[in-house]
Amino acid sequence: MPKVLGISGSLREGSHTRRMVELALQAAAECGSATELLDLREHPMPLFEAHRDYKDDTRIQAVVQKIREAECYIVGTPEYHGCMSGALKNLFDFVYTEISGKLFGIVAATGGSQGVSSLDNLRACLLYCHAWVLPYNVGASSRDFDDLGNIVNDQVVDRLRRVGRDVAVYGPLLWEQFRRDLVQPDGAPQGFAGWVQ
Ligand SMILES: Cc1cc2nc3c(=O)[nH]c(=O)nc-3n(C[C@H](O)[C@H](O)[C@H](O)COP(=O)(O)O)c2cc1C
Repeated sequence: MPKVLGISGSLREGSHTRRMVELALQAAAECGSATELLDLREHPMPLFEAHRDYKDDTRIQAVVQKIREAECYIVGTPEYHGCMSGALKNLFDFVYTEISGKLFGIVAATGGSQGVSSLDNLRACLLYCHAWVLPYNVGASSRDFDDLGNIVNDQVVDRLRRVGRDVAVYGPLLWEQFRRDLVQPDGAPQGFAGWVQ
């Protein structure tokens, strides 16, 4: 059973981002995936310090392990000044080697924009981590939600469900081939073998 991890990059209570990720995860579950949500509000990460070794920090390792175990992801960000949230970017500084070769579906919640800028920013970060990203994404503004945080725009719902379905279907295929490509026929490592965790 493919493992799809949802990651919500907003720390706001009642987050629209979290709602979007939950909906896409639901569609992935309907395709037979095992799904789980990682809400950064519930797993606060310290600011990443590149000179530090976090191996003995059990709280951080629990988050890293969840990310390592997943085969593909649905990640959501609130749009902050045209970029992903600082909390989400900080997470990727901890886990870039764990996400290489794996597929992401990306979604963004905004105040009023289409989310293009923050989604491009998130996509660029993931590509630099050698992850795959679906060739389309979903943006939803506050107008697409009611006061209870439900999504009231059917087009947004449809696109989120498509993200969930496509991540669940294409993610395991890409990851399987990527892993195979790390080893030459004689067993010697090749490609990104020295990078992937
Ligand atoms: C610091 C900050 C910066 C923001 N920048 C933008 C922005 O550039 N464009 C936009 O449309 N909305 C912007 N917003 C609004 C948020 O994207 C919007 O409230 C969104 O719903 C947040 O997602 P959440 O509900 O998951 O927290 C900003 C909000 C904050 C707090």
